[in-house]
Amino acid sequence: MRLAQILFSQGFGSRRECAALLASGEVRLGGRVLDDTDEDLATDGLVLNVQGADWPFHEHALVMLHKPAGYECSTRPGRWPGVLSLLPPPLRRRGVQPVGRLDADTTGLLLATDDGALLHRLTSPKHHVAKVYEVTTKHPVDDALVERLRGGVVLRDDPQPVRAAAVECTGERRLSLTLTEGRYHQVKRMVAAAGNRVEALHRSAFGPWTLPAELAPGHWQWLEAAGAPP
Ligand code: URA
Repeated sequence: MRLAQILFSQGFGSRRECAALLASGEVRLGGRVLDDTDEDLATDGLVLNVQGADWPFHEHALVMLHKPAGYECSTRPGRWPGVLSLLPPPLRRRGVQPVGRLDADTTGLLLATDDGALLHRLTSPKHHVAKVYEVTTKHPVDDALVERLRGGVVLRDDPQPVRAAAVECTGERRLSLTLTEGRYHQVKRMVAAAGNRVEALHRSAFGPWTLPAELAPGHWQWLEAAGAPP
C-alpha cells in the first residue's frame, strides 16, 4: 500500500495532512525517515513510528480501554467528558465507537472499534457474548439474593424474567455477575429487583477479553480482532 494511503487509513488526517506529516520527517520505519508519499510498503506486521510513538498498522481498529468513573460512553456526551476523548486523535478520526455502553459511574473494560460488523457481533443480543461485572452492594449479600439473580428477576419494562448466566458471592458486599445480554442499567436494575442496591460497578471481562491488572484507569491497548467470538 502507498505510504500516504497507509497514514490516511490509520487516521492521521486528510491526504494533505498526511503528506505534511511525511514532509516533517516525523514518520519512521526501523529508524529510517519515510518521506516519499508513493513508497509502497507491505502492511502485514508493519509498525510505523509517528511523532515518536509506535503505530502498528491495523486494517480495522479494536482496542480495550480501562474506563474510569466520570466519563460517558455517549458519542454526544453531556454532563461528563466522553470516553473517546481518552483515545488518541487517529483512533477518533477513524470513527472508533464504544462497543455497548457503561454508565458514567461504572469503571472497567470497554471495547471500541471502527469495524461495524464486529461491533454488531459483539453487541447483538443474538450472540450472547458474556460480560462479567464486579458489583459492590449496599447491603450484605445473602444466598437469597444470589438465588434470585440466578433464577431470574422481572424488570419493569419486560415481563420475561432476566437471569444472570453466573453469580458468585466474592465478599460480604461483593458479587461477581456474568450477563449475556446488555439492557439499559441491567446490573443495577437486576440487583435492585432482587432486593439490594449497587454501590459500585466494575466490568472485568467482555467475551474472551479480561481487563489486565497493569492497564491503569484511562489507559488503552490494541486487541487483535482475530480473538473475537465468531
Ligand atoms: N449494568 C448497569 O447497570 N450499568 C452498567 O454500566 C453496565 C451494566
